Amino acid sequence: MSTTAVLGCMWGDEGKAKITDVLASDAHAVVRFQGGANAGHTIWLEGAKFVFNTVPSGLLYPDVICILGAGMVIDPFQLLQEMNTLRDQGLQFEGRFFISPRAPLVLPLHKTIDAGHENDANRVKIGTTKRGIGPAYADRTSRVNLLFGDLFDEEALRAGIANLHRHHYGEVRPIELEETSALLREAAARLEPCLAPTIYMMHEMYSAGKNILFEGAQGSLLDVGLGTYPFVTSSHTTMGGIATGSGFPTRRIDRIVGVYKSYFTRVGEGPFVTELHDETGQRIRDRGHEYGTVSGRPRRCGWFDAVAARYTALINGLDEIAFTLLDVLSGFDTLKVCTAYRIDGEQTGRFPAGASALNRAEPVFEDMPGWQEDITGITRFDDLPQAAQQYVQAIERLVGVPVSIVSVGPDRNQTIFRS
Ligand code: GDP
Ligand code: IMO
Ligand code: MG
Repeated sequence: MSTTAVLGCMWGDEGKAKITDVLASDAHAVVRFQGGANAGHTIWLEGAKFVFNTVPSGLLYPDVICILGAGMVIDPFQLLQEMNTLRDQGLQFEGRFFISPRAPLVLPLHKTIDAGHENDANRVKIGTTKRGIGPAYADRTSRVNLLFGDLFDEEALRAGIANLHRHHYGEVRPIELEETSALLREAAARLEPCLAPTIYMMHEMYSAGKNILFEGAQGSLLDVGLGTYPFVTSSHTTMGGIATGSGFPTRRIDRIVGVYKSYFTRVGEGPFVTELHDETGQRIRDRGHEYGTVSGRPRRCGWFDAVAARYTALINGLDEIAFTLLDVLSGFDTLKVCTAYRIDGEQTGRFPAGASALNRAEPVFEDMPGWQEDITGITRFDDLPQAAQQYVQAIERLVGVPVSIVSVGPDRNQTIFRS
């Protein structure tokens, strides 16, 4: 029996879905505990592409139970759409897809507010996915949001919508109240089979010796408390988020796997010390197909930042690293890894707390030899080119955590396990 956490340790899109897919082969349940439809998790399986936003990536295994925990924000309309798409691709939800009654909802008004903030030239632009995530979490913190369980209680639903309207508009708008509750009732009828006491389900599985896997969304540097605030998402993406976002204690988790790409990317605004604005950055973007799964935006690309990586390894207490997209770095003569920052003339190995210090930070790079070979067919670590092995070993040394998995392509089979 084992419980495993798979956590993105950069600014998201580290290949968490692929690693979840690889590690879920012997899992009984895969649990999401934060975020919502801002996530874009891609899995390629035998030439077919599957994209998961709110749904856990474990759905690809027909017998795996998929759970959405209390710390997620659920957009019922987006979720139904996503379920339809995945059903059309042949995946089944019946009897194995469960949602916590405690999870807050994302309603159309949250998306409107999100887009309004993003388009307001007088506000700090975050570059959100406009999926209503921030406003939905803000309303939960203000104790005015509806929860998934409210969908199935007519009285709670109407009172909740009225209260939310008062909070946002200072009044209840009868027509909107009717419209919203009618739409939500319709969605509720379709989602009712998913309502379940997910906390007790998980603890019963644990007591029965079943394997549980927790699938993180976004990445540690986007954590609302520990990331590059204010350029973050609105949930706790780091290890502690599992406890509060699912009701499963982190001390019972045996294996904490941090997912890192072999270079850095970021979508949206905010500091990025090793960002490349030149043709090398474009080359990485092209080779890695670095365009957002949710928004289609080109991802900003840069060299591996070991200062940031060491910070996220520390805050999550990582046991091991899954190192992804190594194949993308084939064909470079020299690779650079950032080993320290220079801020206002001082050199430091510590990741600063504030966005302004990060904006002033200059990377101190170590050069590493590149390799030319295509490595997408390699299945043993010792068969990788010498320079690729050395690159992985340098990351282990700099981050201070062993690399147990190396991913050399999007497919399940393109995965190297190290003992
Ligand atoms: P996630 O949000 O962390 O699950 O990552 P995304 O799905 O947003 O982005 C990762 C992208 O890289 C997806 O298109 C994956 O199919 C792809 N991918 C994952 N691992 C590898 C790899 O080792 N090599 C290559 N070339 N692509 C990969
Ligand atoms: P996965 O799970 C990459 C980014 C947005 C923006 C910031 C806030 O696929 O790794 P939000 O809509 O959450 O309020 O946006 O966070 N962001 C992501 N970037 N991958 C993601 O998810 C992300 N989810 C949100 O681009 O900068
Ligand atoms: Mg993604």
